[in-house]
Amino acid sequence: MVTTEKHPLDGLYSKRGRNISPPRVGDPSQSAAMISFIYGFPDPDSLPAASVADAAVRALESNGKWALQYGATMGAKPLVDVLLEKLKRDQGIDAKPENVMITAGGSQAVGLIIDLFVDWDDMVLMEAPTWMGFIWGLKNVGAKMQAIPMEPDGMDLTALRSTLEELRADGVTPKMIYIIPNFQNPTGISMSLAKRKELIEIAHEFGTIIFEDDAYHDLRFSGEKIPSIYSLDPYGLTIYTATFSKTMGAGMRLGWLVAPKEVIQHLGVLKIDGGTNVFGSYVAAEWIPENLPEHLTTLREIYHRRKVLMIDALGKHMPEGTTWTDPDGGFFVWVTLPEGLDTLELLPRAREMGIEYMPGGSCYPDGGGENQLRLSYSFASDEQIEPGIEILATLVKGELMESASK
Ligand SMILES: Cc1ncc(COP(=O)(O)O)c(C=O)c1O
Repeated sequence: MVTTEKHPLDGLYSKRGRNISPPRVGDPSQSAAMISFIYGFPDPDSLPAASVADAAVRALESNGKWALQYGATMGAKPLVDVLLEKLKRDQGIDAKPENVMITAGGSQAVGLIIDLFVDWDDMVLMEAPTWMGFIWGLKNVGAKMQAIPMEPDGMDLTALRSTLEELRADGVTPKMIYIIPNFQNPTGISMSLAKRKELIEIAHEFGTIIFEDDAYHDLRFSGEKIPSIYSLDPYGLTIYTATFSKTMGAGMRLGWLVAPKEVIQHLGVLKIDGGTNVFGSYVAAEWIPENLPEHLTTLREIYHRRKVLMIDALGKHMPEGTTWTDPDGGFFVWVTLPEGLDTLELLPRAREMGIEYMPGGSCYPDGGGENQLRLSYSFASDEQIEPGIEILATLVKGELMESASK
């Protein structure tokens, strides 16, 4: 519970409300005061404020009557049209209007899918580690979670199969397998094409959903594009979500779902919001065709440069026994420190020294990751990256020396 004190409303909470986890730590505004590698925030200086302002004026001049009105539940038509084109061009997804829903960021899409499919005590499978937002969403509904280890080319599918077989022997069909296929949050790993295809066959064999969260799709800066699971799936078992948060701007709160039309219809009844961010949708529909492709080129350059700076700095400064991933896109590098170090315990000292990172344990639903951490290179400036990693290395080396002398 959030508080241990008795309150007159205590008896009225829903089952979900009663079982709330402790408050989630972290105040994003504090991050600006230090070298922050903790959050998956887009680069503040490249947010396209001027061109979005122009698009807002155009949207109001040409469509103000509708941009400021309630909107269609599935999403404002101009944005749906623009999205369908983008999906075909960039994601290789040939969807129809009845297959898509505009959502308040990827987070609402995830929340809606959990709402539609997951009851209290239902089982959900996911990569280990995974995006903590998904873990939070599942905790909120009392779901059971089983995490399947990651390999350098994505989820360990042998482990997935044996987990599914064990669950089947107990009469359990997991509601979904949650996958972040490109530049996964938090590891930066991408799932190979061969594994994407095998995963589809496994999901088909065991009768479950693949929930494909492609939040970082547009931010590939090296390597070959890999087709989405959704576009490869002949069985219609995949639900796809992504977001404009990491590209146009997280403050737009615009994301989307692509799913079989029956799923979209169900969600249309569950989602009660008078139309998702109608004004923002009209602005985005104006902004995207003219600005998104060029903006993505700029962002890929920025994040590629920062990733290289971070990987180089890790190589230069971190002590022996430390390993890290080297992503082809997205925001994250995943670092594994020597056994015995505890990144959650070290975080307050890291903050005192002027840096912050995401402790690895937050990214596992069921324990583990104590000696791991996620570093985001999206929010810190070019100039901050090497000094920040040097501080991290000093902290880790000091801790290693201290534990060696115990
Ligand atoms: C994997 C993943 N999915 C979804 C989201 C949610 O994004 P949004 O800001 O659009 O709600 C994030 C954001 O960090 C993410 O990393």
